[in-house]
Amino acid sequence: MSNTPDTESPLLSHIKLRIAVSGPISIADFMNEALAHPEYGYYRKQDPFGRAGDFITAPEVSQMFGELIGLWAAVSWQQMGCPPKIDLIELGPGRGTLMSDALRAVRNVAGFGDALTVRFVETSPVLRTHQQTAIMAYGIPATWHEAFDDIPTRENVPAIVIGNEFFDALPIRQFERGDKGWAERLVGMDANSGELGFVRGRETPVTDALIPVNLRGSAKKGDIFESCAAAIAIADQIARRMNETNGAALFLDYGHPSSAYGDTLQALKGHEYHPVLADPGDADLTAHVDFAAISRTMLEAGARTGAVLTQGTFLRMLGIEQRAELLKTDVDEAQASAIDQALARLIDADQMGTLFKVLIGYGRNTTPPPCVSGVSG
Ligand SMILES: C[S@@+](CC[C@H](N)C(=O)[O-])C[C@H]1O[C@@H](n2cnc3c(N)ncnc32)[C@H](O)[C@@H]1O
Repeated sequence: MSNTPDTESPLLSHIKLRIAVSGPISIADFMNEALAHPEYGYYRKQDPFGRAGDFITAPEVSQMFGELIGLWAAVSWQQMGCPPKIDLIELGPGRGTLMSDALRAVRNVAGFGDALTVRFVETSPVLRTHQQTAIMAYGIPATWHEAFDDIPTRENVPAIVIGNEFFDALPIRQFERGDKGWAERLVGMDANSGELGFVRGRETPVTDALIPVNLRGSAKKGDIFESCAAAIAIADQIARRMNETNGAALFLDYGHPSSAYGDTLQALKGHEYHPVLADPGDADLTAHVDFAAISRTMLEAGARTGAVLTQGTFLRMLGIEQRAELLKTDVDEAQASAIDQALARLIDADQMGTLFKVLIGYGRNTTPPPCVSGVSG
C-alpha cells in the first residue's frame, strides 16, 4: 500500500524530507503532521464521517446518543442550582450532530436554553462549517476556538464539557521495553527503499521516568507504553477551570480504564484497518485513551472523577432502552428494526458498549453530575 515517488502525496514527501534532514521523528510528530498539518492534515481538509467516509461515530449512529447527553448536561446544570449562564463546551464536535441532537432534546428544560452559550473546540475549518449549519436552527449563541484554553473563563459561569472521540485523535508517543530500559519508538525511513518504518530510539534514564511507577516492575521486553501529553494537558486545564467556576466534564472514547501496555495506534480508511504509516493525511489515526491517566490528572489538579464506566452501562443508566421504545411507537417495521440495530450498536458488549468507556469529572465544589459512581478525589 505504499506510495511510489511518482504518486507520493505532498504530505508524505514533506514527512520524508523532515526525516531525511533531521532524523527519525516521534509518533506524536508523525500524528501531528498526518492529522493536523495546516494544508494536508486529515482533519484539516475533509469530512471523514459517515458511510462514505472512513469511520462512523456514536452520534452518527443514532440521535439517541446526543439526546441523552443533552439531558445529562441539563440535569448537571440543574444540580448546580440552575445558574443563569453556563458554557456548554464540546471538544472535537465533528459534524455537530451530537450538539444538534442535544439542543433539540433540552428545548423543554425550563431556563436551560436561555442560560446556554455553546463553545466548540475545533481545528478543522471544514467541520466548523458543518457544526454551524447543524445548530443554526436552535438560535443558541455559539463560538469556535482552536484550543480549550482559548475559551474565556467568565466569573460565576460554570462549564459543562463534552468530548466524544476527541482524546483518541490526539498525538501519542510510544515507548518500547528493551533489554535494559525503555526507548522511544520513532518513525524513520529506510535509506535504500525510502519507505517509512518504525525504529527504536536510544534507551535513556529520562525515557524510564516517563513510565508510570506502578507499571515499570512488570514490563517484559517488547512491551509498549503509550502516553498522550496533549490529552493530559487538556484534562488538567479542564479540571482547573471546573474548580474555579464549577463544572462537569463527560468524556467518551475507546480506551482502557487502567494504564496498561499495548500498541493501540491504528489507521482507518474507508471503514477498514489500514497500515499506520502508509497514507498520512488520507487515513484516520487513533490510539486508545488511557482513562486512568486522565482521571489521575484531574484528581491531581484537585477536581473529582467518577469510576470509569462502559458506554453500555452509561447509556442504559440514562434510559436509552426506554428512549428506543418511545422512538419505535408509530414507525414502520423497517424503521423499528433500524432503531433496534442502532441501539445494539451503541450498547451491546460485542459492539461499542464495552470497548467505549465513559469518564465523568467535576469541580471540587460542584455537586456530582448524574451517573457518577465510585467517586474518587
Ligand atoms: C473522531 S472525530 C469525533 C467527532 C465527534 N465528536 C463525533 O463523535 O462524531 C475528532 C474530532 O476532533 C477534532 N480534532 C482533532 N484534533 C483536534 C485538536 N487538536 N483540537 C481540536 N479539535 C480536534 C476533529 O476535527 C473532529 O471534529
